[in-house]
Amino acid sequence: MTVVPSADTGATIIPEHVAIIMDGNGRWAVKRSLKRLRGHEQGAEAVREALKGCNELGIRYLTLFAFSSENWSRPVEEINHLMGLFRFFFKKEIKALCDAGIRVNFIGNTSKLPEDIQELIEELKVRTKDNNKLVLTLALSYGSQAEIVGAMQALGEKIKAGELSPGDIDEDMVARHLETTGLPEPDLLIRTSGEQRLSNFLLWQCAYTEFVFLDVLWPDFKKQDLIAAVGEYGSRSRRYGAL
Ligand code: FPP
Repeated sequence: MTVVPSADTGATIIPEHVAIIMDGNGRWAVKRSLKRLRGHEQGAEAVREALKGCNELGIRYLTLFAFSSENWSRPVEEINHLMGLFRFFFKKEIKALCDAGIRVNFIGNTSKLPEDIQELIEELKVRTKDNNKLVLTLALSYGSQAEIVGAMQALGEKIKAGELSPGDIDEDMVARHLETTGLPEPDLLIRTSGEQRLSNFLLWQCAYTEFVFLDVLWPDFKKQDLIAAVGEYGSRSRRYGAL
């Protein structure tokens, strides 16, 4: 964690890793008598806002819950629209992401995504791999329980192959078999829209994360909301179970 006095936030501690559950796109649209799809479009604007805010505050890791494994059960029209948005965003933003020094990383079962999006994902990873200002991790077709099951299966295979005994497994080893291996655990998790649950997002990784729930709907999320959440984070006392 970096300790940086910040005039903007009034807080002295900037979290190294912020994770966000971007919630409320549908409600934002319904409130305006618009189709839910418009909420997702405006949500993509809020992603740009969050990235700008992170870069300005010096946050090093941002992880966004963009599409959950459960979201596949939404109406086909909405899924297709979201895929279109990801496609558009990945193509359009690649240069801006590079210029801003952002490395893009993905977690989730991306093999379920349309093939052209999988290709764009590979291109984004390769073209941004040397950037080091901010690591943006997009959780796409992601479910934390499935991720943990995957790690258990990988460990089980190693035991079967005689490379490992059950007693060798500890927390570090499990963490190294998760898709988030190499990322620090989130310091701060923000969920917008007033809902207060994790919804199968980073269950293992958030063991000691500070949660901030904002009443703002995701499409309305602005840099000031990030600053407010970081300010709240700075006021918390993190004891990790100790005194
Ligand atoms: C939750 O709101 C949001 C999603 C399921 C999709 C998140 C996607 C974006 C913000 C679009 C762009 C993202 C990128 C990375 C380009 P909801 O639809 O569940 O809202 P509701 O609870 O109000 O119905």
